[in-house]
Amino acid sequence: MKPLSFLLLNLCLSFSILGHKQEVYLVEECVRNNYTENSCNKVFCQPWQKCVYGSCLCKIPYQCPKNGTSVCATNKITFRNYCQLKSYECQHKTVRFLSRGNCNPQDSFVISLDPRTATTEGLLQVEVNHSGKIFVCGNDLSINEANVACRHLGFPEGADGKESIEPDGHSHSLECLKATCRGTETSLAECALTRLNQFNGKLAKVICHGNHRECSSREFHCVNEKCINSNKVCNGINDCGDLSDELCCKACKEESFRCNSDVCIPNKYLCNNEMDCLTGEDENPQLCNKAANEPGREGIGHAEESMDKERKKIKTLLPQLHCGVVIPIRTRKKRMLGGYAAAQNEYPWHVAIFNQLGSLLCSGVYIGGCWVLTAAQCINLHNIQDYKIWTMMLNSLMFNLDMETFRLNRVIIHEYYNSQTNENDIALVEMKTRSPGSSCPTSNVVPICIPWSQYMFKSGQQCKVSGYDGLRNPFVLNWGYADLMRNCSEIYKERYLTGMECAGTPDGLVDVCTGVLGGPLVCYDANNVGYLWGIVSWGENCDRKGHPAVYTKVAHYFDWIARHTGVSVISRYNV
Ligand SMILES: *[C@@H]1O[C@H](CO)[C@@H](O)[C@H](O)[C@H]1NC(C)=O
Ligand SMILES: *[C@@H]1O[C@H](CO)[C@@H](O)[C@H](O)[C@H]1NC(C)=O
Ligand SMILES: *[C@@H]1O[C@H](CO)[C@@H](O)[C@H](O)[C@H]1NC(C)=O
Ligand SMILES: *[C@@H]1O[C@H](CO)[C@@H](O)[C@H](O)[C@H]1NC(C)=O
Repeated sequence: MKPLSFLLLNLCLSFSILGHKQEVYLVEECVRNNYTENSCNKVFCQPWQKCVYGSCLCKIPYQCPKNGTSVCATNKITFRNYCQLKSYECQHKTVRFLSRGNCNPQDSFVISLDPRTATTEGLLQVEVNHSGKIFVCGNDLSINEANVACRHLGFPEGADGKESIEPDGHSHSLECLKATCRGTETSLAECALTRLNQFNGKLAKVICHGNHRECSSREFHCVNEKCINSNKVCNGINDCGDLSDELCCKACKEESFRCNSDVCIPNKYLCNNEMDCLTGEDENPQLCNKAANEPGREGIGHAEESMDKERKKIKTLLPQLHCGVVIPIRTRKKRMLGGYAAAQNEYPWHVAIFNQLGSLLCSGVYIGGCWVLTAAQCINLHNIQDYKIWTMMLNSLMFNLDMETFRLNRVIIHEYYNSQTNENDIALVEMKTRSPGSSCPTSNVVPICIPWSQYMFKSGQQCKVSGYDGLRNPFVLNWGYADLMRNCSEIYKERYLTGMECAGTPDGLVDVCTGVLGGPLVCYDANNVGYLWGIVSWGENCDRKGHPAVYTKVAHYFDWIARHTGVSVISRYNV
């Protein structure tokens, strides 16, 4: 792919970073977490996996979509579709993909090394349907194919390297099999394979990872224990085979793109209609419109024949939660004392919490089902029957037809909430349906999305905070911009704890002093989907510069929320 404007940025970065020492590229505190392709804090899980406590775990086949074309496994059992086979493989490790379509007694796919002088390396050969062995082409062979071939041969960590070899007398042949893999497959049969006739190029040699050894100081230690040359980290290429060399990057080398989550992906993943970055910046419409007009974009070509196409198709069949999306609103921003006045349907997840006397106590945010999130300090467990929640309220004196009111069914305050320190200042409120079986909000209420990874947004990101301006009566729903700040422990010292996030309002709009407690700090991804990044918790001297508001960091509590509400209620992906 040829330069897009942001590649210039990458280029500048590589000029400014002298040398290729891995420390320059790697975020060390991230590396210590041993992230791999199975870490949903960093990447999307495969469609046959789901995200549980930060790890991609195997689904059971019935949790896969039902649609798709059948495939045959190495045990000669026909599976309904690729996802069902891969989830079975993921759990049992005893079968692999064999071929497309229903099983046929003649189907076979055998891969071997030749000559097998060493048990771990040799020229790669494939025999399909007992029709004679054929060498794999060496030109264009990447570490992706080598990793897949080695995995297929029984080396779970993949390859230590690959070479392209000039054919010698006895191995010379007029044809070879060109393989193109994504790099995560477990069988070469899943890759795109094309027979090339009349070829006069090189053959593929792979060196599979046998015995573990200590890595040298110039090598990167992959999580799967392989050692790779340090200059191969953060280049968008999955050299380790478990992706661990691409997940903790301050910068990405040329020919790769950096996601906000510090992950490097190959440029060929940009604008390919599949989201690879957690917050979608690789498929950002602005970027992709521009890219569509660039001449010379690489076609995906025969890769379309691989099972990768099927993998992508299955992804589109997975259920996806509708959250965080509003109809674009084109109203003039009306600036008020405490921020901008919110328009109808602009913050359709924002709710108001009233006490028995009818005073507005706090804000909350609707997250799906009958659930509202708010700050723990907003709710007193002794009189939950007295609280009322109003949805779609813009102004406490002006009734509108979208407004609905709910009593509370149940309140779950975080078990380690500490009212002295504001630690774990988060509570789940379950609203009561008005009649059994009816849904909770019935009007135009839209749930906000819950972020599942702390890497989705980072300091510098501009987000929005909404809340009721309590300085005046009536209460009016206002919003303002808030910028995520690096780390507030310099300002708040030991009062700034794990599970807290801080954000400053650059122009002093909407601050914690006015009735916004429990209200949402929402950050938007590249496709304008809103995620609940924070819940307003505390602050001091809020209108003075240098004293940003402190929020409960919602991503930190994803598992807690999922445990109490059910994963499918709050998970946009990875279910
Ligand atoms: C990461 O892996 C290393 C080496 O296996 C181990 O010592 C360390 O405890 C692991 N760290 C985490 C956070 O799991
Ligand atoms: C799945 O297959 C059924 C019947 O074969 C079809 O009616 C339905 O539209 C398919 N769904 C999708 C999402 O393709
Ligand atoms: C192998 O045989 C099966 C069934 O006989 C056929 O569908 C498939 O296309 C064959 N594969 C190749 C690569 O020839
Ligand atoms: C914040 O920064 C301080 C030093 O500036 C560091 O010790 C601390 O670990 C950081 N905390 C977080 C949560 O990043």
